[in-house]
Amino acid sequence: MEYLKSIAIFKVYLNILIAKIFHCLSDICSINEAKEISSSDIYRYEANRLGIKIEDEDFAQKLDNQDTLKSFKEKFHFPMVKDVCKCDEQKKNESPVIYMTGNSLGLQPKAIRSELEGYLNDWQRYAVEGHHKGEHPWISIDEEIQESLAQVVGAKPSEVCPMNTLSVNLHVMMSNFYKPTQQRHKIVIEAGAFPSDLYIAESQIRHNGFNPDTSLIKLEPLANEFTISTDRIKSILSEHGESIAMVMIGGVQFFTGQLFDMKEITAFAQSLGAVVGWDLAHAAGNVELQLHDWNVDFACWCSYKYLNSGPGCIGGLFVHERHTREFDSHTDKRLLGWFGNKLANRFKKETIFEAEEGALGFRCSNPSVADCTSLRASLAITNGASIAALRAKSLLLTSYLETLLLSIKGDHSFSIITPRDPTQRGAQLSLHIGGKVSAAKLKVSLLNAGVVCDVRDPNVIRVSPAPLYTSFTDVKNFVNILIKSLSE
Ligand SMILES: Cc1ncc(COP(=O)(O)O)c(C=O)c1O
Repeated sequence: MEYLKSIAIFKVYLNILIAKIFHCLSDICSINEAKEISSSDIYRYEANRLGIKIEDEDFAQKLDNQDTLKSFKEKFHFPMVKDVCKCDEQKKNESPVIYMTGNSLGLQPKAIRSELEGYLNDWQRYAVEGHHKGEHPWISIDEEIQESLAQVVGAKPSEVCPMNTLSVNLHVMMSNFYKPTQQRHKIVIEAGAFPSDLYIAESQIRHNGFNPDTSLIKLEPLANEFTISTDRIKSILSEHGESIAMVMIGGVQFFTGQLFDMKEITAFAQSLGAVVGWDLAHAAGNVELQLHDWNVDFACWCSYKYLNSGPGCIGGLFVHERHTREFDSHTDKRLLGWFGNKLANRFKKETIFEAEEGALGFRCSNPSVADCTSLRASLAITNGASIAALRAKSLLLTSYLETLLLSIKGDHSFSIITPRDPTQRGAQLSLHIGGKVSAAKLKVSLLNAGVVCDVRDPNVIRVSPAPLYTSFTDVKNFVNILIKSLSE
């Protein structure tokens, strides 16, 4: 019965997904006609209906014409092939690259330059008085962004704040929430987590006098698999039960592109008594998040990937409001700094610490105004498009990429290690390159042909069509170039 019920729920979910996808293509598709079609068949279905092949240029062009977000591409600077390729002088050209690396570093929004100039002008004109003068007084430069950050991660504005950078914020949150005892001391993390996250978990365990050999539990996929199912995660969590103090996983896995069921995993781990935190580096701006409603304890992310704020720019932090209602500076584990204190106390000689409301109370230092300025400008673009519309386009774009990749004939050997189910992935597809082809060499060959994507060991190319600035024609051209490069 349970099995039948979950199939029924999945069908309903799939229909919602298809409805969402078709919202973008309402002129060329009918939701009713599509009800019985699985999402990965959408393109084949539509191409058949139009009497053209998915592989035809016209098809990509048609999808671009229907794209309600197509004007957003104009808001970004694209590198020129001549500036990034490693090819001969005569092959270098003035055309923009096809950028498939928004999962690593987003492109520069054109609007950021003038915003930064505004900040430099204020600094030149007002110097220290800039804290309280100008269009964006520096004293509240981060508070100004709370509302837009909250929209991106599905939170209340007071639950989020831009601060520090991702790894530092993970330390800040773990210092606060990791309270190991002899009975409950384990941290659960993905075996293939981003290296920084592994170092952070290990060092937090040591700082608290425990040993990573016995206190760090790594979620391993099954043999010969790259991804890990929710059921397997739950079964590992059950195995360790009440010895788990904290679960800290990447919402979208940086290597495989797998999107975890954050709601389900959070609820399950919390039912065992664990605190649950998410590293949302690859999720923020990529997929829809409802951190408040999912009752997540804490989350941290960077803003330079799908949020396009610039390399190393300020990170973001979420703390559920239920954790910040009460605070006692004498007993709490929170790391304190003057900016977490209420404004009125900040310069007082007596050490009176009354935490600022919500996430703001976790600040230690004053925020970088340059960073907050960049982030404000880039978030305006993301929220201008809206996360819901971006995700709807992204589902289409990535499915289109997948469909074209799967239609490649011949002995080009690669496999897609990202889940095939669109609800279990974001914008990224990771291609495990097989045979004798080296992913590193393939990357150079793609770069010389005008495509930017990245490589991760073992022999994986990550390809990420970011919906803000990638067109369906870009995806089509990318696949054509990939076919050529693979056969070279
Ligand atoms: C999943 C993940 N976690 C952590 C980090 C580290 O980020 P930062 O250098 O901003 O601390 C990255 C960086 O790319 C990442 O992808």
